[in-house]
Amino acid sequence: MSFPKEFLWGGATAANQFEGAYKEGGRGLSMMDITTAGSLDQSRLVTYKFEDGKVGRGKVIPKDAKGAVLPGQYYPNHIGVDFYHHYKEDIALLADMGFKVFRMSISWSRIFPHGDEIQPNQKGLAFYHSVFQELKKYDIEPLVTISHYETPLYLEEHYGGWSNRKMIDFYVHFAKTLFKEYKNEVKYWLTFNEINTTIMFLELSQESNDQAYQNAYQQLHYQYVASAKAVYEGHQINSQFEIGCMICGIVSYPLTSDPKDILANRYAWEKNIFYSGDVQCKGSYPSFAKRLWQEHHVELDITESDLSDLKKGTVDLYTFSYYMSSVITTHDNDEKVGGNFSMGVKNPYLNYSQWQWADDPLGLQYYLEMIYDRYHLPLMVVENGLGAIDKLEKDGKVHDPYRIDYMREHIKAMEVAIDHGVNLIGYTSWGCIDLVSAGTGQMSKRYGLIYVDRDDQGNGTLARYKKDSFYWYKNVIHSNGQDL
Ligand code: BG6
Repeated sequence: MSFPKEFLWGGATAANQFEGAYKEGGRGLSMMDITTAGSLDQSRLVTYKFEDGKVGRGKVIPKDAKGAVLPGQYYPNHIGVDFYHHYKEDIALLADMGFKVFRMSISWSRIFPHGDEIQPNQKGLAFYHSVFQELKKYDIEPLVTISHYETPLYLEEHYGGWSNRKMIDFYVHFAKTLFKEYKNEVKYWLTFNEINTTIMFLELSQESNDQAYQNAYQQLHYQYVASAKAVYEGHQINSQFEIGCMICGIVSYPLTSDPKDILANRYAWEKNIFYSGDVQCKGSYPSFAKRLWQEHHVELDITESDLSDLKKGTVDLYTFSYYMSSVITTHDNDEKVGGNFSMGVKNPYLNYSQWQWADDPLGLQYYLEMIYDRYHLPLMVVENGLGAIDKLEKDGKVHDPYRIDYMREHIKAMEVAIDHGVNLIGYTSWGCIDLVSAGTGQMSKRYGLIYVDRDDQGNGTLARYKKDSFYWYKNVIHSNGQDL
């Protein structure tokens, strides 16, 4: 029992949480640049301004207002952990760990500051050339997410973001620009990060009325078409490209053996996981889509040419994030759990992190086997890890045995799945270098194998320190997963 020789070990990041330099090199603003810091209760809000000068904060930019960076507010994503100026040092650290692959995303507004331009920003393109050259120096394969939660702000304000069909063309132009520019430097691409969260977020929100579902399913449809067109175009530009979907992989279980719970859980899988997976891997909407739409009286703008685009642009890889599992029930149960996507009620058999995320390595094995059986595509775990509070000791060490335990058990689960016949080709642990949390905006929710000196208020030197998990993971990679 062992990992394949060419298994892609590595780590993952996203530009908006990592790169910083939000105003440098001709970059435009993105939605994340107007998002303030949150806290454990996750109150991250966007800031905006009306024409009469009134300012506010909310979940979305209200009609007639413009997103704004306001004095006196703290926006952690502006600096991230400043990969923009640290990339050489950071990549050298990743190389020291023996990384085979590094997942990163490209900041859309660094390439197209508004998002609707024809000509790309050359300085933006040059920055990523430098990053790819540096990775090449150490034989680290880049894995690039084209869109990771950071639509250019201008597109949100002037076009209404993904509610507008025009976004398909803007996105495809962006993707084609990247494919042409980096066709000899990047082989692995992901179209949209956690595309399925558009619906999952809604399921968790209080404002989930029919209109909200109508908007969410429509936005998702435009993203599916954009993704499929990008996959098709990518293959025309370089037939060697491997282009994947990226799904937020939350396993759910029924709480009881009551058939109602079993059915509710099955429907949760369909809505949260298979709906997106089927469209992107099989090229058409699944039969249960009609039931989902009817549930909320959704009527979609779908054209014949959309349907043919979906068929022509199926993905080569299925990639996903996996952090936790959840429990679904139709029964009354007060033990609700919180967290970005953690749904349902508490699982009495599992331990929970400080952010209420269930630690469930077997869930990863379950997910891998279930998904491989459904799609028969190569799989990659492109996010996994434990968000925890770490302590930098006076001697510059960080002792994080909890993170090592978490990763060890998840890697063991992957090995079992491989042994059971699953074609798993890689693993990138999330936030391999500490970065800003997407859900809460905290720095103190750390995932890294490398510690970054920066706190929730933006204090710190940004110096990097190797945690105990750094040395452990280095050994795991060196032994190809045998020395755990
Ligand atoms: C994934 C996202 O959902 O979870 C990442 O793709 C995110 O961007 C990660 O950072 C962990 O979530 P959080 O809220 O702990 O940062």
